[in-house]
Amino acid sequence: MSTLKAVRGTRDLLPPETALWNRIEATARSVFARYNFGEIRTPVFEDTTLFARGVGEETDIVSKEMYTWEDRARAQSEKTQSLTLRPENTAGVVRAYIEHGLGESGQLQKLYYLGPQFRRERPQKGRYRQFSQIGAEVIGPPSAGSESPLRDAEILEMLATLLDELGIQGWTLHLNSVGSAADRARYNQALRAALAPVVAQMCPDCQRRAETNPLRVLDCKVPADQPIIETLPMIADSLDEASQAHFAAVTAALDAAGVPYTRNHRLVRGLDYYTRTTFEFTHGGLGAQNALLGGGRYDGLSEMLGGPRAPGIGFAMGEDRLVLTLQAQEKQKSTPPKVVAYIAPVGENMNSANLALAGELRHQGLAVELGDGSFRLKKSFESADKTARNIVIFGEDELQSGKLTVKNFANGTQMSVPRAELADFLLNSDQFLEPEGGRSTPEAPLVVPPARIPQKPIHE
Ligand code: HAM
Repeated sequence: MSTLKAVRGTRDLLPPETALWNRIEATARSVFARYNFGEIRTPVFEDTTLFARGVGEETDIVSKEMYTWEDRARAQSEKTQSLTLRPENTAGVVRAYIEHGLGESGQLQKLYYLGPQFRRERPQKGRYRQFSQIGAEVIGPPSAGSESPLRDAEILEMLATLLDELGIQGWTLHLNSVGSAADRARYNQALRAALAPVVAQMCPDCQRRAETNPLRVLDCKVPADQPIIETLPMIADSLDEASQAHFAAVTAALDAAGVPYTRNHRLVRGLDYYTRTTFEFTHGGLGAQNALLGGGRYDGLSEMLGGPRAPGIGFAMGEDRLVLTLQAQEKQKSTPPKVVAYIAPVGENMNSANLALAGELRHQGLAVELGDGSFRLKKSFESADKTARNIVIFGEDELQSGKLTVKNFANGTQMSVPRAELADFLLNSDQFLEPEGGRSTPEAPLVVPPARIPQKPIHE
């Protein structure tokens, strides 16, 4: 019988890698809390219309990559409903904002989310069909200040802080403005005019998009089309005064906050809802799929989905890509995580007494592994050395004396420790820090990098 495997483009995440995922999520939650964001959890599938209207029919995501199916009707009179596994979460968050009348409070809604997204892309390093995003959205009525460039700068400053706290080194922030809806209409016109004489030489997708949504021509990856795309007008030339002033205010606030960025005129992002500020943080170590995260403003999305006017800005980080980047950085220094102690029963008749001892230590918050009394002492030592920093030997002799034999693998010392003092002794037994676990493994101190120093921006 053929063995079953995880579906192409999906993966199992196993320990110890999952410890890194948990650390990333804990750091993100901690940063979001300091910036006063609350968590939102929306369904993993939605009505297909949400993405068609929100993300845009002509985008790669909607036209090629969605997992969509017709849900069975429950009764003959009922219509089938087209459902889609979410390819991204901004549309779902804005749908929830509208559905629950979150704008009625008059306050800005600051919402974050973590979870799986689904796109039927060609799998490669850093690109999967099920992947995880950590994202956040700031949305609200204009009276709450939702259009203010300060919100854009604060989100970007938060992202720089989060990447620094995660320990991601060497990121680059690419920044652009795609203007208001009116600017984009003007730009689309300029693109149509520029494309007219050359579009016949381009790929079929571009030929269609030149008609329906010329901005999406800029997403084309076909190598032969790139020289033509290079000659197309830039969106910066279509921005009106208000959009230019908005962008200038964002960059001035970033300069003041000391967040370095580079202006990238080609950054229009592959989703239709963006207006004004768009951004991506990239990392050189990721190869072709180098975007750690992307985001931008979407001042018209709520109205596109039938809601009230509710400008917003947000981002989503590719958690899989954060993991890849950190793994590559930590490759040399990574040692598999170890628990504080391996409890080794000597003789099978000592198994239950050792189970009780392991339970005592675990109740006191220590992470321990339990051996088996059928093992020879040599085998216990070998297993212990692989999984733990200390071995605790508990046989008949120790039961009689009330003292346990503890050996520390790092410094080789062997001690006889009274049972009542064992937990404290183990806690102080070495200076190794453990990335995950109970009190035995003090949490790696949260490194808060020094305050960012205002610096000169890097312009292209
Ligand atoms: P996006 O650029 O489509 O934006 O995705 C954001 C991030 O998700 C990417 O930068 C990348 O790190 C990760 N990502 C995307 N596709 C994959 C994949 N197939 N495999 C692994 N990682 C992937 C959005 O999704 C917008 N909703 C972001 C946003 C929020 N804009 C405003 N608010």
